Amino acid sequence: MELALSLEFQNYVAGGWCSASSAARFKNHNPANWDEIVGNFPASGRADLDRAIASARSAFAEWRLVPAPKRGEIIKRAGDLLTQHKEKIAHLMTREMGKTLVETRGDVQEGIDTAYYAATEGRRLFGYTVPSELPDKFCMSMQMPIGVAGIITPWNFPLAIPTWKIFPALVCGNTVVFKPASDTPATATRFVEILLEAGLPPEVIQLVHGSGNAVGMPLVEHTGVNLISFTGSTEVGKQISAAASKNLKRVSLELGGKNAQIVMADADLDLALEGVLWGAFGTTGQRCTATSRLILHEAIHDRFLGMLIKRAEKLRLGNGLEADTEVGPLINFEQRERVAEYVKIAKAEGAKLETGGEPFATGACKKGAFFSPTIFSGVSAQMRLAQEEVFGPVLAVIKARDFEDAVHVLNDSKYGLSSSLYTRDVNAAFKAMRDIEAGITYINGPTIGAEAHLPFGGVKETGNGHREGGWPVYDFFSEVKTVFVDYSGKLQRAQIDNR
Ligand code: UN1
Repeated sequence: MELALSLEFQNYVAGGWCSASSAARFKNHNPANWDEIVGNFPASGRADLDRAIASARSAFAEWRLVPAPKRGEIIKRAGDLLTQHKEKIAHLMTREMGKTLVETRGDVQEGIDTAYYAATEGRRLFGYTVPSELPDKFCMSMQMPIGVAGIITPWNFPLAIPTWKIFPALVCGNTVVFKPASDTPATATRFVEILLEAGLPPEVIQLVHGSGNAVGMPLVEHTGVNLISFTGSTEVGKQISAAASKNLKRVSLELGGKNAQIVMADADLDLALEGVLWGAFGTTGQRCTATSRLILHEAIHDRFLGMLIKRAEKLRLGNGLEADTEVGPLINFEQRERVAEYVKIAKAEGAKLETGGEPFATGACKKGAFFSPTIFSGVSAQMRLAQEEVFGPVLAVIKARDFEDAVHVLNDSKYGLSSSLYTRDVNAAFKAMRDIEAGITYINGPTIGAEAHLPFGGVKETGNGHREGGWPVYDFFSEVKTVFVDYSGKLQRAQIDNR
């Protein structure tokens, strides 16, 4: 894989790199310096999608018959190539999406880990063998490929999230039509190049760039697509779910979060401080697992808040390519507007702005979508700031009376992705694991820290019950076939002849 010198990027459709049939293009900007163009990308539409889906459908006929361990070997090679090009991809990702190099390296590493896990899964894809109720009869279940998977991914993890979806889809024998976020199409393009270099047969993957309206929704509605995996906002997730239900399409949705970290009076406060700084301001708060609520036991509330403000004010904002930068820009100026709007709302609701609350546009940051790390105290559980996903560096601090109250406040949310409890009390830790309403609970760790081989996903309006990562995602991308083999040589009627 060579990073193209040209800024002109292409779709990958029907086994070849090509422009959109309309020849229309859109620009991808560096959010740390909007004047810098990362690339020009095809603004695709229905005709491009139709061609991609038809090609993916025809490729499915052969791909489904390639032995799963062989499919896994291709993913293994993709993992090797990601390892080899980790640094280059991390640089490109920082340029197109803004987070620091430390984080984009982590993003690529998450893709590598996912590759090596997925590769070995090609040697499992277990079914069951189960005893029959009749003599001389054999029963089993098998994991079968489904068909064409439509993959729609967000910009906050431009490589990791596509790998979470695409590697399992391919190992399970499906072909893929990939619609990456239009804010991060360059990393997505490199990923497809790597898949091809790893030996994926050309038509097994299709890459179609463009907007959600022009490509994403038509992909969801298309009768040639069997299943959809989407990560993004709850609002769009609901539209996708409604559209896909018209032809009973299988859909996996990873949606919003309003994740909280609880700090109890007996916690290691220095550790809890490192956790909340990383959880709330890492990736500039643009993670679905970001810590956006901090629930403090009243006994340590004032002290911990003081420690936190002091550290948050020292965080260095800047271009993520620079070694001393700790917080990069937001993804674009529209997102910065949205964050500023939430600051206004929180003030109007009576929350107390402790620090930040403003765009940051001094010195080298003046051409970027930067926003100062922001902390509000005096937040009550009912405020919009405590209920709605901001997707930015804004932390709402809520005071709790005791453990029960803290868990009650944490659960008072329509979302349920990630959660965290800092305590030294083992009883409280186990109660939290049981009673917190979230797909992920961390004890003495921040709300972020997913590992490729464990299930990832949430409850309530965070999703529709599926999980990415780990073993469950292989069930999502497979259809179960139940097989009976009767070797008795005679008609045996179940429920009748054995009675
Ligand atoms: C997301 O924000 O959509 O552990 C995914 C984590 C990250 C993944 C977050 N590695 O939270």
